[in-house]
Amino acid sequence: GQALNTLKTKAEEKVETLTNNLDNSGVQKNIYGDLTRPAEPIELGARHPISIVKNQIIDVFSRIGFTISEGPEIEDDWHNFSARNFPPEHPARDMQDTFFVEKEVALRTHTSSVQVRLMEAGELPIRSIMPGRVYRNEAISARSNCFFHQVEGLYIDKGVSFSDLKQTLYNFVQEFFGANTKVRFRASYFPFTEPSAEMDIYLGTETESDYRLTKGTGWLEILGCGMVDPNVLENCKIDPKEYSGFAFGLGVDRIAMLKYGVKDLRTFFNSDKRFLDQFVNL
Ligand code: DAH
Repeated sequence: GQALNTLKTKAEEKVETLTNNLDNSGVQKNIYGDLTRPAEPIELGARHPISIVKNQIIDVFSRIGFTISEGPEIEDDWHNFSARNFPPEHPARDMQDTFFVEKEVALRTHTSSVQVRLMEAGELPIRSIMPGRVYRNEAISARSNCFFHQVEGLYIDKGVSFSDLKQTLYNFVQEFFGANTKVRFRASYFPFTEPSAEMDIYLGTETESDYRLTKGTGWLEILGCGMVDPNVLENCKIDPKEYSGFAFGLGVDRIAMLKYGVKDLRTFFNSDKRFLDQFVNL
């Protein structure tokens, strides 16, 4: 109380001296208007929900030693497809409908392209995550958009195994969704990993939105993953006899929908201030 009173007296004295100085300075009176009037409130912006979730994902992986890397959104065929073991004309290229800028140049369809750039840089071991925006030529609906966001992960060292992959992803799920979250791995196919898997988390079917989001199964896919295919290592001048690694790609938008109960993906991107203002204090 005493300290506050001292402060108050000091502030009053200061205001008085400044006012007197101003009055005596010959400056025309009142040109500053009423100096005691309250200021206009400053409107603070909010971080976008996709950025909030992206940063939280980054936090979880940073805590266990992953660095952050980034790459270009306009990408050449080599980094997006060929180096990732999609041969020319191979049907696997149809898995990702692509926006071409010109022949052999496209908007990246996944952040996996950044993995190639990192491996080519040649500094081993690699333990890094790569957040970013990706583009696909898809019909726009409540569940899919022509652009979305991924966080890619890559770990390359001697003796990396599938159990390291599982443990890293278990850790992510427990930190991000809570210690009791159930997960399952399903065998899958990606040209750049062998073996490949997809990971689902269990939401249940009790609420209407969980039922809809999981199409009645209770399970929601949140990422693709696998052991980096030896062909990919070789394409990036890494010897697969000496090194092995795992990789994964997480869908950020889907996790954000889940986290905030957003039913239509498009709401994130139509810049409606009433929607965005809800994230001001997060
Ligand atoms: N790039 C894949 C996609 O966009 C996701 C993915 C799957 C990334 C497996 C990976 C991986 O790094 O190992 O559908």
